[in-house]
Amino acid sequence: MQQDDFDHALVSAEEFSDADKQAVYRAIETRRDVRDQFLPEPLSDELIGNLLKAAHAAPSVGFMQPWNFTLVTDGKVKQRVWEAFSRANAEASDMFGEEQRALYRNLKLEGIRKAPLSICVTCDPTRGGDVVLGRTHNPRMDVYSTVCAIQNLWLAARAEGVGVGWVSIFHDDDIRDILDIPPHIEIVAWLCVGHVETLYGEPELAVKGWRQRLPLDELVFRDRWGAT
Ligand SMILES: Cc1cc2nc3c(=O)[nH]c(=O)nc-3n(C[C@H](O)[C@H](O)[C@H](O)COP(=O)(O)O)c2cc1C
Repeated sequence: MQQDDFDHALVSAEEFSDADKQAVYRAIETRRDVRDQFLPEPLSDELIGNLLKAAHAAPSVGFMQPWNFTLVTDGKVKQRVWEAFSRANAEASDMFGEEQRALYRNLKLEGIRKAPLSICVTCDPTRGGDVVLGRTHNPRMDVYSTVCAIQNLWLAARAEGVGVGWVSIFHDDDIRDILDIPPHIEIVAWLCVGHVETLYGEPELAVKGWRQRLPLDELVFRDRWGAT
């Protein structure tokens, strides 16, 4: 089998029109993590389907596609998840020094009950069998792939006027119990999802004085670690 044998499968890679490029960059630059701006109206099945298709189009190691998406709309389930968040969040606030703790307690870090839809994104490390191409030397590649799916969904959501908020302040076992997730499945994200009319223009944590965006040029090295 030679590379040329597959040339018939190639498609055009011409660059996007200026308008299309601007749309892509606009989605990237204006995407926000949403905690409080959710509207109560449910998302249509078609819209949810489009967001999930965007997620499912993500790159994955060895084309493993290790993700699952558990859609949660049941208020009782969301309430239990919010309680799990609240317990973990109280523990989290105690981990910061006194000055930061006061600010931390004033931050809103979830929209679990307000968002009409939650999506629990999980990673199945067994998908694709014992040996997966590309994952032979770093098994974490499965989770990295799942995160790519989440980012695709997040950007597609921005284009659709839908906000997404990633909640990670839990004991995984609480979520595992609530959703009946098997022990070998890794919990990657709890996403709060809903229509939004407004978004912060900058990351909410920056607006509220928690942390600012770092200068990009300090993060880029040339030819070896640390060389700018
Ligand atoms: C892996 C991951 C976990 C996160 N967990 C939380 C969380 O538990 N609660 C929260 O409010 N935001 C969470 N966020 C959102 C970040 O705070 C947010 O992305 C960051 O402040 C930048 O803001 P932006 O996404 O609006 O640009 C998480 C984001 C990522 C990528």
